[in-house]
Amino acid sequence: MNSILRFARREVRDLRPCIHGGEVWEVTSRTGLRRDEILDFSANVNPLGPSPLALESIKNNLDCIPYYPDSDCNLLREAIAKYLGDVSRENVILGNGSTEIIHLFAEVFIERGDLALIPVPTFGEYEKAVRKMGGKPRYIRLSRDFHIDLESFLREMEGAKIIFLCNPNNPTSTLILHDSLLRIIEKACEEDALVFLDESFIEFVDEKERFSMVSEVKNYPNLFVLRSFTKVFGLAGLRVGYGVAHSEVASLLFRAKVPWNVNCLAQAAAIAALNDDEYLRRTWRLIKDEKAFLLRELRRIKGFKVFPAHANFILINIRDSGFTAAELKERLLKYGILIRDCSSFRGLDEYYIRVAVRTRRENEKFINSLRDILNS
Ligand SMILES: Cc1ncc(COP(=O)(O)O)c(C=O)c1O
Repeated sequence: MNSILRFARREVRDLRPCIHGGEVWEVTSRTGLRRDEILDFSANVNPLGPSPLALESIKNNLDCIPYYPDSDCNLLREAIAKYLGDVSRENVILGNGSTEIIHLFAEVFIERGDLALIPVPTFGEYEKAVRKMGGKPRYIRLSRDFHIDLESFLREMEGAKIIFLCNPNNPTSTLILHDSLLRIIEKACEEDALVFLDESFIEFVDEKERFSMVSEVKNYPNLFVLRSFTKVFGLAGLRVGYGVAHSEVASLLFRAKVPWNVNCLAQAAAIAALNDDEYLRRTWRLIKDEKAFLLRELRRIKGFKVFPAHANFILINIRDSGFTAAELKERLLKYGILIRDCSSFRGLDEYYIRVAVRTRRENEKFINSLRDILNS
């Protein structure tokens, strides 16, 4: 018999997995380190861990396990609408992590040959989702300091069906200003295109209300905003993400989604996390202080070009340090520290690393380990 692969859709046969940070499980099996011996600077998640209220809620909901979860996630959608303000339950759709929603969006809207605009470097799942559906990505290179050149971007939009934007962008930690976003969304409206705006890290941005476009979904049916419980709420392992959109778009996605995609414990934990104001305040204070500390210390290191950071992670060009990103990653692993080698990002070379902002003790350990390596 010929290879069974011939039965697979053409797009899937050619698909490659996307590389991500946070590969602690792979590192434990490769190095023999225990999970709790690894300091993970490669995944950009809340260094405080989950809210205590979320953990308590999981314990209190263990008796839900024998039942199917609410496939509509009604209580959680209600809680999200209240948390965001300005939108209602009908505007919210839940996913098994925001990654599921990226793929769902592509499944619903992309037909073979459709053009999708993707500024690079950025999060790799947009490209994968587009390719999986037979869409054609058009990559728009960000400027040398990783910003969008608005006028040329608007020109490039011609003929595109979907524009993917990530704000703040992973891995560059750069922010697109509100006015620029509005111009892109309005131009997309004129051109009958959709804007998929990933705000997974927006909650780490100072004055986030000025930059988020969530409240614009009522005005622009072509705008879809993505959020995640992985990052600011530290619930990566539970897999909860959500999208905010015009009710017509949300209900379309609803029809296409897999049923029961968010389990009962994840729903309960997410609701509790949204209600933990004190935890969110502590998180913002910590990230603000520690980002300033980390930026200051990293900028003192010879051979490092440290880019400004609007999110809870920092992009660094280490070319002049004498190390490649892969080499520095391996050396740091000997100290139990995991960083993101960014060479797998389209548009970056082998000299970029990305590090998350963590607690003072962890940040100090990271900086001291770096000094050790670079001075030896
Ligand atoms: C920009 C961005 N969007 C979405 C995701 C996916 O997050 P999750 O599926 O855990 O919600 C990530 C994860 O790294 C990300 O960096």
